[in-house]
Order: sequence, then C-alpha cells, then structure tokens
Amino acid sequence: MQNLILIGFMGAGKTSVGNCLACETGMDFLDTDERIVAEQGMEISAIFEKYGEPYFRDLETDLLERMQTDTENSVISVGGGMPMRERNRELLRSLGCVVYLVASKKTILGRVQNDGTRPMLNGEDLEKRVERLMREREALYREAAHFRLQTDERSIPEVAREVLSEARKFGY
Ligand code: S3P
Repeated sequence: MQNLILIGFMGAGKTSVGNCLACETGMDFLDTDERIVAEQGMEISAIFEKYGEPYFRDLETDLLERMQTDTENSVISVGGGMPMRERNRELLRSLGCVVYLVASKKTILGRVQNDGTRPMLNGEDLEKRVERLMREREALYREAAHFRLQTDERSIPEVAREVLSEARKFGY
C-alpha cells in the first residue's frame, strides 16, 4: 500500500485520525509539523517568530521533496497550510492517496480556541481569521485531494474507518 495523506484546516483532526489509522492498519505514522519541529529543534511558533512564515513554508516543501524517496506505507498528517503551494500539491499527490478532512467553522473554532501553538491564528478576532483562511484555502484543499470526508460530529475511529473504505475504492 502506498501512503495515505491527510490534509485539511487546522483542527480538522488530521493528527488524531492519522494516529488512529496507523494503529488500525499497522502503517507508520508521520506528522510533518512534528518532523519539522524535531529537525529544527524548535517549536513551529518559534520558527515563525524567528525566521518568518516563508521560511517555514520552504521547510515544508523541502520535507515533502525528501519524503518522495524515504517514505512509504505510511499515514502522513500534514500542516494545514501545506497544500497552498502548487508544488506541494503535486508532491502530496505523488506520495499517495490524499484525503481532505473537512470540518465546519464551528467545529474548527471549538478545537482551536485558546491554542497558542498555531501562529496563523494569533492576533485578534479568531473567528474572522479562521473564516478568511478557510475561504482562501477551500478550493486548494479540494484540488489537492483525491476525495474528501466530512468529520463534524463523528468520532475519530469512525472517520478513520471511512478513510480506509474510501481509499480502497481508489485502489489503496
Ligand atoms: C498551519 C497549520 C499548522 C502548522 C502551522 C501552520 C497553517 O498545522 O503547520 O502552524 O498554515 O494552517 P496543523 O494544521 O496541524 O495545526
């Protein structure tokens, strides 16, 4: 089996569902944010603060490039902004089956409130920020994904099971 890649907005459940999928299938689990933090020896918020967002985006692309040759049979959860670059969308699809985990603004807001670890959400008026980013990103998530799944009010194992059954239809 090739890789299963989970994309979607911050708080959509990529990491939780990814962990669950890896447990159920015995596949390895890899989270791009965790990998970047480990490699840089810095938290994401510190990378943004010290070097800025474009630097972080370059780290993401560089990691995806390397994963083309060193990652297989893995469940991969990627940072919410990863699919925004055209090159990243190509790289994601060449890694395997790309699944867009969709969540409503209400669900997202409930999950990301009071979370100081996500620099894209720092500042005033969280709701407006989330709304704007979701609007800007929606079409690109769809473009990157082989299929999408709604996650609102569904448990993590439920979503994980559906990811697997849908992915099988794509030959995974
Ligand atoms: C980001 C999402 C974060 C992380 C960084 C930027 C984004 O990952 O990569 O803070 O631009 O949406 P999660 O989606 O795992 O929160």
